[in-house]
Amino acid sequence: MSLKGRHLIDPNDFTLEELNQIFELAHKMEKNPQDYSDLCKGKILATLFYEPSTRTKFSFEAAMLRLGGSILGFADANTSSVKKGESISDTIRVMDGYSDIVVMRHPREGAPKLASNFSSVPIINGGDGGHQHPTQTLTDLFTINNLKGEIKNLRIALCGDLKYGRTVHSLIKTLARYEGMSFYLISPGQLQMPVYIKDYVKNQYNVEIIETEDLEDVINKVDVLYMTRIQRERFFNEEDYLKLKNSYILTSDKIKNAKENMMIMHPLPRVNEIDYSVDDDKRAVYFKQAKYGVYARMSLIAHLLGVN
Ligand code: NCD
Repeated sequence: MSLKGRHLIDPNDFTLEELNQIFELAHKMEKNPQDYSDLCKGKILATLFYEPSTRTKFSFEAAMLRLGGSILGFADANTSSVKKGESISDTIRVMDGYSDIVVMRHPREGAPKLASNFSSVPIINGGDGGHQHPTQTLTDLFTINNLKGEIKNLRIALCGDLKYGRTVHSLIKTLARYEGMSFYLISPGQLQMPVYIKDYVKNQYNVEIIETEDLEDVINKVDVLYMTRIQRERFFNEEDYLKLKNSYILTSDKIKNAKENMMIMHPLPRVNEIDYSVDDDKRAVYFKQAKYGVYARMSLIAHLLGVN
């Protein structure tokens, strides 16, 4: 099925075959970006960001600009008519007359889904509250695929704030669909992955999940270590955050005995969960991952606009 005109709200909106199509084009775009520099000429991408962002917003904008398209939008909803009380549905009805494709980030779970009900152009979920972040997942999968050669038979550790972290919610849902995956979920007891997500992946895909609080206990067993920050803004009180903020700090010492080809990933921004000393280790791929995010998003835009 063509991806033209479709929305991307949940990472599982696309089949594995469709994801593969996106990675294949992203790969070509990475190798020969000049061949695609006019692909989206005359098209406009709108970025509606009701929550802070660096990578997601700028990587979408860079992606559209590299495809020869144009961009418009806001990074602070207070500078738009949202401040005057405009509803999401009204904003979207207007913006879809001004643009060909829309990326929306919102603090409320489900906001991009709501927007998609009112939009005649593709809506991309750029992160909705503590729920999902499908384009980070595209980025993550594209990175694993590129660096490991395929997505198969991997032991994946997700570490940090698995309760509020939307990147890991989307990632496990999608990775679980590939062959031979198993997961270590490493978090403090209070920040465990929500039961509805664990149940979903276990029941749908029959994957093995091991939960632990101890990173050092499992670090030597895994092929991918995906670190995340404790999501301060989603806590109900600062005291709880302060108690948990230093739960995991990855240092070069701790990865000494880890697999030589283990990938250390992070969606960024990092706070203190990966010490700067780890950056020089060849296993640390998080900055490469951020760069791959542009190609993954270029390919996604091209597919949704039907110009691939
Ligand atoms: C993530 C997010 O916004 O959920 N950032 C990103 O998009 N790369 C991760 C985070 O904020 O911790």
